[in-house]
Amino acid sequence: MRTQVVIVGAGPAGLLLGALLAREGVDNVILEQRSAEYVLGRIRAGVLEQGAVAKLDQAGVGARLHREGLVHHGIEISHRGTRHRIDFQSLVGGSVVVYGQTEVTRDLMDARAKSGATTVYEAEDVSLHGFDGERPAVRYRHGGVAHEIACDFIAGCDGYHGVSRQSVPRAALTVHERVDPFGWLGVLVDRPPLSPELVYVSHERGFALCSMRSLTRSRYYIQCPADERVEDWSDERFWTELRRRLDEPANAALSTGPSIEKSIAPLRSFVAEPLRFGRLFLAGDAAHIVPPTGAKGLNLAASDVHYLAGALVDWYRRRDDDGLDDYSRRCLRRIWLAERFSWWMTSLLHRFPDTDSFGARMQEADLELLYSSRASQQSLAENYVGLPY
Ligand code: APR
Ligand code: PHB
Repeated sequence: MRTQVVIVGAGPAGLLLGALLAREGVDNVILEQRSAEYVLGRIRAGVLEQGAVAKLDQAGVGARLHREGLVHHGIEISHRGTRHRIDFQSLVGGSVVVYGQTEVTRDLMDARAKSGATTVYEAEDVSLHGFDGERPAVRYRHGGVAHEIACDFIAGCDGYHGVSRQSVPRAALTVHERVDPFGWLGVLVDRPPLSPELVYVSHERGFALCSMRSLTRSRYYIQCPADERVEDWSDERFWTELRRRLDEPANAALSTGPSIEKSIAPLRSFVAEPLRFGRLFLAGDAAHIVPPTGAKGLNLAASDVHYLAGALVDWYRRRDDDGLDDYSRRCLRRIWLAERFSWWMTSLLHRFPDTDSFGARMQEADLELLYSSRASQQSLAENYVGLPY
């Protein structure tokens, strides 16, 4: 088989890239190691920047998002029993759309299935070849049969644990990594959210977040030790701990119920540089991870894909390789800004096991600055709604 671009991974990055390329007449095949159901079973953040919404529109999958997504003009920060609102609208004139990543993925999968483009689910032993030359190829097994696809380019959209980054010689990669000494225990529940906007909670017992998927489904998180086991957290224990961290009005408004999903996610910052190796390009979680505090994971994948799709289309239209040559630099500029913001939000709101009294005071002062300074609020708002591409 032959195609123009082989995309490894059918997460949001791979599916969005596939859709943008197909719209511009660039043939592509997506190889995904899991089943579609498995991919849709993963619960992840659900806050979209305007830039990501624009990309989904461009990919032709924005209709349901505009119908069902919730437009939020601000967030709230709860600290010492008081709530402070960061008003995106008045600070920077922006907003975000709350729409679950699972739904984004479903919309992209449905559109792809309708378009007739090839997606191979349950592709085993995917391996990348020849990307340092002019004729790359990707091999895989499916249903016990070996296959090879010849292509012009390979897009590594296969997440943090994927094969693409691992196929690059070690010496060609520089890796920057920080693992936070705690995780987020998350619960999904079919109950209305406690507040119309997301509430980020800084509390002496640890961070908490009150988020939502819709007006009838909520997502709550609490900071927990990194080695915590989800089996040790009954629903009751979770709600009790969450209540301890919430302010009075939040507690009064909290509607609890049986969890429909419960999981623990580690917090990690990670960047692998560069993002291009000959004819292999990394995008999304394959190249970088942000801690979830700033809700940037999916949004960063969308900006990588924006640069990559544009560069590939220029190459196919005019054999113009400026975009491909500049891909890494353009992505990394925005990646590092998002890493900084996610790191800052994380440092501001969590309790760190080894913080001394000076560190604790710095955190308090940072929060005080945020409440009292419009410039500080503006900086948060500008980053939260998304820096320009
Ligand atoms: N072969 C084929 N597919 C693979 C392989 C492999 N060897 N390894 C991993 N994959 C698939 C995974 O099963 C997954 O479906 O690649 C996909 C990567 O998807 P994500 O992990 O969602 O990564 P990405 O698309 O970059 O997502 C960006 O969305 O999922 C979130 O946390 C993520 O917020 C981030 C954003
Ligand atoms: C979520 O809804 O899952 C969510 C929202 C905002 C974040 C992180 C996660 O910062």
